[in-house]
Amino acid sequence: MKKNIINTPDLTKAGQRKKNDVTTFDYVDLKDHDYYKDFFKGKTFFIRTYGCQANIRDEETMKGLLVEAGAIEGNDETSDIVIINTCAVRENAEEKADGELGNLKNIYYTKKKIITVLCGCMVEEPLVLDHILEKFPFLSVVFGTHEIKNCLELIYMAATSNETIVAVNSKPGEVIEGLPVHRNNRFKAYVNIMFGCDKFCTYCIVPYTRGKERSRKMEDILKECEELVSSGYQEIELLGQNVNAYGQDLKLGYDFSDLLEAVAKTGIPRLRFTTSHPWNFNERMIDIIAHYDNIMNWIHLPVQSGSDAILERMGRRYTKQEYLDLVKKMREKIPGLALSTDIIVGFPNESDEDFKETLDLVDQVQYDSAFTFIYSPRKGTPAAKMPDSISAEEKSTRFKELVAHLEKSISASSERMIGHTYKVLVDGVSKNNKEYLSGYTESNKLVHFKGGLDLIGKIIEVKILESHTYSLIGEVVDG
Ligand code: SAH
Ligand code: SF4
Ligand code: F3S
Repeated sequence: MKKNIINTPDLTKAGQRKKNDVTTFDYVDLKDHDYYKDFFKGKTFFIRTYGCQANIRDEETMKGLLVEAGAIEGNDETSDIVIINTCAVRENAEEKADGELGNLKNIYYTKKKIITVLCGCMVEEPLVLDHILEKFPFLSVVFGTHEIKNCLELIYMAATSNETIVAVNSKPGEVIEGLPVHRNNRFKAYVNIMFGCDKFCTYCIVPYTRGKERSRKMEDILKECEELVSSGYQEIELLGQNVNAYGQDLKLGYDFSDLLEAVAKTGIPRLRFTTSHPWNFNERMIDIIAHYDNIMNWIHLPVQSGSDAILERMGRRYTKQEYLDLVKKMREKIPGLALSTDIIVGFPNESDEDFKETLDLVDQVQYDSAFTFIYSPRKGTPAAKMPDSISAEEKSTRFKELVAHLEKSISASSERMIGHTYKVLVDGVSKNNKEYLSGYTESNKLVHFKGGLDLIGKIIEVKILESHTYSLIGEVVDG
């Protein structure tokens, strides 16, 4: 297909931040979208999303726009419009998207001339994008993370011109308000409080794919939260790459503690937030989490490494001891606090001693859950240019050793729960066993139990009977 290139990504531009860059706002007028309604009316669409909660929330916005325009959610990749919402954080995320594009290619040439859309973080990488456009010439539209608000227009342009539209505008980005949302869950909601990231950890592509760290105004966030409370939502999860830095760019005199307190006061039964960065966490935030019962006693606090030398090369801006001190303070103030983390194994030239420091930190903290990753070089990030003499084999051995250490504390934290009763928000029927329901405790542990479908969406009491490393079995406590 002929290409219509509106703009292409540029990592240098994407990583630029001017000192004192102010956050700009764009309030969308949905009337502008009326023009596309004739085209979208009755068309089916399907979105497959990879990556983090930011991408899931973007999916919900795209669904909102499409449904508003009259399109209907379909069941699979044979829908009229198929959108692949990609992640670029590690190579395996990109491989999954590549596999999915292969699947779409097959459908496009053998079954149905679907309108195919590629968006999300992966298309923000210039070399990756060139490769995709060459390998999958049937794509209808490729748009970047800043273009979600224009997705109707771009899809319409592609479908009516028979050209591949490429619109990936690398820029710091603005805060866009007023977009509709079609949520994936009826009682648990994601609420963006900020976009982008300015931390520039040396291994990470996110500050390039998502642009500048920019906060929504507190009044706009509260309006969204209040609407969720009044429509019966049970849980809100506040989203940002570094929620603790919330508000710093706005200079309006409020920060994450103020926001957390204000959202807790809306009366939402459960309030969570992710991701926290140890660097911006302060005492007042801890006090507020401790004070409000509806702020859950679970903090996801990525540490990445336990070695000061590696933390420095990663650009994390804290030491092992500072992290441990923060954890100690949190544990002293927040009763029953559960902690989870992200850890990268095999950062360039990570020595055996460095790795032992990570094992030691993990043993000291005793995490309740954790995500572990083998370092994946991302083109355009500083770490991708660092010399690395550690073999893939060594990295994989270390990875297994780390997981074994983590599993000890994770299992122990689950075992301690046996015999006790916890509040669980019932998600639905268990994925693996249709005879069970499942849900999460306040401390974010997954529990399976038997019960009627009428419990779905309710917060109930469940007594823990059995523990497995990554889940628990319980029984509903009457009354
Ligand atoms: N903003 C969040 C997380 C963003 S990405 C934070 O700062 O914690 C989620 C996780 O992916 C990171 O915490 C990190 O552990 C991992 N990650 C990011 N880049 C990576 C890379 N190049 N290789 C391996 N893991 C990576
Ligand atoms: Fe990536 Fe670091 Fe920003 Fe997290 S804080 S998104 S790891 S650059
Ligand atoms: Fe992936 Fe982009 Fe999220 S790179 S982790 S989808 S911000």
